[in-house]
Amino acid sequence: MGGNSFGKMFRVTTWGESHGKALGVVIDGCPAGLPLNEDDLKVELVLRRPGRRYTTPRKEKDEPEILSGTFKGKTTGMPISVIVWNKDVVSDYYESIKETPRPGHADLAYIKKYGYEHWDYRGGGRASGRETVSRVIAGAIAKKLLSCLGVLVTGNVVSLGGEEFPFARDPQEGLRARLSPFRVIRGDEKAEEILKDVLENKDSVGGIVEVNAWNVPPGLGEPVFDKLKADLAKALMSIPAAVGFEVGYGFKLASMRGSEARDRIVSEVGEAVLEGERAGGMLGGISIGGKISVRVAFKPTSSIMIPEKTVNIKTLEEADVKIPGRHDPAIVLRAVSVAEAMTAVTLVDHALRAGLLNPVRIEWNESCERTWRLYGEYLPTSLS
Ligand SMILES: Cc1cc2nc3c(=O)[nH]c(=O)nc-3n(C[C@H](O)[C@H](O)[C@H](O)COP(=O)(O)O)c2cc1C
Repeated sequence: MGGNSFGKMFRVTTWGESHGKALGVVIDGCPAGLPLNEDDLKVELVLRRPGRRYTTPRKEKDEPEILSGTFKGKTTGMPISVIVWNKDVVSDYYESIKETPRPGHADLAYIKKYGYEHWDYRGGGRASGRETVSRVIAGAIAKKLLSCLGVLVTGNVVSLGGEEFPFARDPQEGLRARLSPFRVIRGDEKAEEILKDVLENKDSVGGIVEVNAWNVPPGLGEPVFDKLKADLAKALMSIPAAVGFEVGYGFKLASMRGSEARDRIVSEVGEAVLEGERAGGMLGGISIGGKISVRVAFKPTSSIMIPEKTVNIKTLEEADVKIPGRHDPAIVLRAVSVAEAMTAVTLVDHALRAGLLNPVRIEWNESCERTWRLYGEYLPTSLS
């Protein structure tokens, strides 16, 4: 039972509901010596936070408070606990639809599993996208640890409402997507047009996020069930509304010839490396060294104004439900931060397991700081 924890050595447990008092995360297994304060967490939280253009108007500032695991501004190796209080909670509306489970949301599944009387129907409860605030906090800590290996994790929207957007060719392009309100590398105008159109029609759209981890050392991933690609798949598919996962060229490889589908192995600066990104930087579920590339597809937001058929759970009569509440027209925009976070958490867990990061304490130096600082440098001025 359970299912609220992820990772073996970097163990992340999230807790809290959308309309409960607070949400938070406990991280067990973070080495001592990592400089950490609330501002570090905000560097990532601001990009997931609701209330920006084309996101839900729910106004949550997401102010994190570190409750344990740090002393004199550095981690101690003890469990890190972080809390975020819910502020802008409007639950009245959910009273009116509590007997009509929303099509596309988790309502019916929770009712069937836990029983109607135990179901927290306020804002989706535990199944709310709000749960992901805890993941982004864990992701910020993971990204900071990965900075000591020179690893950067960036994500960007490569598809929105069926339209394609460019992918990142280098870390700078990946970081630049942080500056776009639509998390695209190029094409803000096109993205805005798509979102304007769905909002006018009270509808929503889906999309695809690509996450790249740059400069990953070789050796992450353990045969056979804990392959890096398998753990990344679990991490990313556990994000609410995730519906598909690909490694490298993914499903495209299934229709290619063997002769076109392999990454050539070449000698570069005295090392054997992969040329190309068909395999997403992993073979046998183990990182080869360099860039790791994965994609996650997100479905359109299901809670929209357009009515859909459901059943009154008390009377079992058919009914219509429409959701005049507050929602994101495209979950995928805010899901980029969450996908980056889950990737970073998975990579840190495997870096610790592979002995590439000291599990007891780390030496934070200028080179770690330089890499970590890049995330803060790529924040829209309106948010930083
Ligand atoms: C950042 C984020 C925000 C979300 N916002 C909404 C929302 O406003 N309305 C909604 O219906 N679903 C939203 N979702 C998706 C639901 O949480 C998700 O569809 C629900 O838990 C059912 O899970 P499933 O879609 O994975 O089956 C959001 C997801 C994420 C990651």
